[in-house]
Amino acid sequence: MSEYSLALIPGDGIGVDVVAAALVPLEAVADKHGFSVRHTSFDWSCARFLETGAMMPDDGLEQLSLHDAVLLGAVGWPAQVPDSVSLHGLLLPIRKGFDQYVNMRPHLLLPGITGPLRKSEFDILVIRENTEGEYSGAGGRVHQGTQNEVAVETAIFTRAAVERILRYGFEQARSRSGRLASVTKSNAQKHTMVFWDDVTDELAAEYPDVTVTRYHIDAIAARFVTHPETLDVVVASNLFGDILSDIGAAIQGGLGFAASANINPDGGFPSMFEPVHGSAPDIAGQGIANPIATIWSVSQMLQHLGERDAAADLLRALGTVTATPARLTPDCGGSGTTDTVAAQVAAAL
Ligand code: NAD
Ligand code: IPM
Ligand code: MN
Repeated sequence: MSEYSLALIPGDGIGVDVVAAALVPLEAVADKHGFSVRHTSFDWSCARFLETGAMMPDDGLEQLSLHDAVLLGAVGWPAQVPDSVSLHGLLLPIRKGFDQYVNMRPHLLLPGITGPLRKSEFDILVIRENTEGEYSGAGGRVHQGTQNEVAVETAIFTRAAVERILRYGFEQARSRSGRLASVTKSNAQKHTMVFWDDVTDELAAEYPDVTVTRYHIDAIAARFVTHPETLDVVVASNLFGDILSDIGAAIQGGLGFAASANINPDGGFPSMFEPVHGSAPDIAGQGIANPIATIWSVSQMLQHLGERDAAADLLRALGTVTATPARLTPDCGGSGTTDTVAAQVAAAL
């Protein structure tokens, strides 16, 4: 029997609730499909920062690297710790340190879910560059607090990273509809984004079976809302992919539905699975956070670990529960709680 070792980082706010809830269907699907998951929980969070001065220990990545995968809830408690400190102290260093250069964010309607923007079925896969670009962290502030103050945040795009994320996008497009949308803002950003377009054109010659359409970020943002059914695989830089995946979440029913997989395709380091949403301080501690995004991320994790039948079965069980929205949490108009939704998914397995 296969046994997987899972590192849990519940983090802050509703992250703690959704990770605990997602373990219930995980255990059920493992039992059913004949494998087991041993998990170790790490208390890395803003609470830890307030106690110790660090979001995670110095050897945090080394500790995580001993596991097959990481499941993360959410990081951030801005009332007490600046986001620039907490996210650069925990979430972002894992993505970058483990070279999880693909962030896969699926956006589609689960059975029974009708977001306010729903017009027709759609199935969009956002592939977000996850290690550099606008998130490079390069820059600084000078003459702070004076009228001469200048702040610079430098986007860094390397050929190696642009090429590998675009190639991943082409491969995904090839395995799905054969259509790839490449997102830039090359009408305004004449260095980084023109470079991205150039590399897209170079790769397109290698993939004659894939039809590439270039979109500017502003135009595709509108298209997500008005004509999502015209899109399939969407490849974008770190920041543009971040924004598009919250729009994707909105059109699929809300942030409680959007799953994400931070993948290290080479397998040299563990991959990390997490909902797209954050710690939701406005509803934290109430037991009403929607756990669906996290459970879906667990399905992505099982797929990544090679447990394909279990991954599909978990998604199917999720769909049987969403088919009756009254059973879901209040963000979807239901009267359920985080735990009742998770228990129903487990029961549907
Ligand atoms: P958020 O995603 O936490 O919340 C935005 C809105 O969506 C809130 O109204 C919230 O109640 C709602 N929401 C989010 N997830 C939900 C769920 N599962 N069920 C029901 N409603 C849900 O975004 P924010 O308010 O901008 O950020 C809060 C904190 O989380 C900040 O510190 C931010 O930096 C951090 N954050 C972390 C991550 C991450 O860890 N991956 C992602 C986004 C934001
Ligand atoms: C996400 C989040 C993070 C990001 C933040 C919290 C740094 O918004 O995972 O989408 O921008 O990547
Ligand atoms: Mn985001």
